[in-house]
Amino acid sequence: MKLGTLSLENNLILAPLLDITTSPYRRFCRKLNKVGLVSVPMLYTKRIEKNPRSIEQYLHKIEEERPVSIQLIGSNGLALKKSIDFLSSYKFDILDINAGCPSKRAIRAKEGGYLLKDLDLLNSILNIAVKYSSQPVSLKIRTGFTHNDNLREIIQTLKNSGISYLIIHGRSIQAKFNGSMLNLDAIKEIKNSLNIPIIGNGDIDNPIFAKEFLDYTNVDALMIGRGSMGNPEIFKQVDEFLTNSKLVKFENNLHKWKDFGNIYESCIDDYLKDNPNLLYCAEEYKFRELKRNMIWLTKGINDSVNIRVKIARTKNLYDLKEKLAEIYV
Ligand SMILES: Cc1cc2nc3c(=O)[nH]c(=O)nc-3n(C[C@H](O)[C@H](O)[C@H](O)COP(=O)(O)O)c2cc1C
Repeated sequence: MKLGTLSLENNLILAPLLDITTSPYRRFCRKLNKVGLVSVPMLYTKRIEKNPRSIEQYLHKIEEERPVSIQLIGSNGLALKKSIDFLSSYKFDILDINAGCPSKRAIRAKEGGYLLKDLDLLNSILNIAVKYSSQPVSLKIRTGFTHNDNLREIIQTLKNSGISYLIIHGRSIQAKFNGSMLNLDAIKEIKNSLNIPIIGNGDIDNPIFAKEFLDYTNVDALMIGRGSMGNPEIFKQVDEFLTNSKLVKFENNLHKWKDFGNIYESCIDDYLKDNPNLLYCAEEYKFRELKRNMIWLTKGINDSVNIRVKIARTKNLYDLKEKLAEIYV
């Protein structure tokens, strides 16, 4: 599909999930499925302004993940401009601006989801991003701050903003993540009101709902986040259902889990290879990354509770690998 000037393999996008959709995670999803676009979770412009080197680890070999978007969060114009300058040495495809983060920290700092309450600020941030970025700019929002009561104003603000596409999670900022039903009508309204591609997002964890979401809102593409945790093949399932009406269920077992483990490990190794930023903590990084994911990947396996407990107790990489070898069949 075409997303602005980008050509994507399909209309499915891996959402940015801070500390979850890491580089190994994104590589892993891509190894198992076609994923049109993957997203680097939010990077704070204030942090980049103060200490750009501290975020280099998140962008190591980013060019291997293309098409890929990088997301910035912040509301200070100068910090945003400096961040864009810093990113210019990397090869990526989209600069995404976060106007949807509901965390207390973001709201206090007047960034992320706060921008939906202060549309002049949102406008000025978008102006800077569009003016200085050499990549196309996208925006990730929710349906409004409190409800979707200022959706019309949000739409007006975005009309001539110069963004290439919009991602919308169908909840308000105050609804956080599970606080309310997804508002597909608001997404539909956005889709009918703007002349740019719209990406719909929220609660997509199975192919049937993915199709309902798409049919109801008519969005151009779907973004999937939590639905991929423990089910990395969700992209394949949704794609099959959308293109061939074939319903493939996610089935898991110990053999498959072992394969997942080996593939995930190779993705971590690819990312760590020649990574100067993690040279002295590569083993610890690998341990945490593999442990967290192997626990999620037990979803659907018989006796998964026992396996999770055993893995959760491991204290280092050696310990973890020994435990995995014991459990693997
Ligand atoms: C743990 C976690 C971290 C997240 N981090 C980000 C982030 O860095 N940037 C962002 O735009 N959204 C972030 N989100 C929101 C997701 O991208 C997505 O909009 C939301 O989870 C709804 O989609 P889903 O139901 O498919 O997960 C995060 C969500 C979760 C649960």
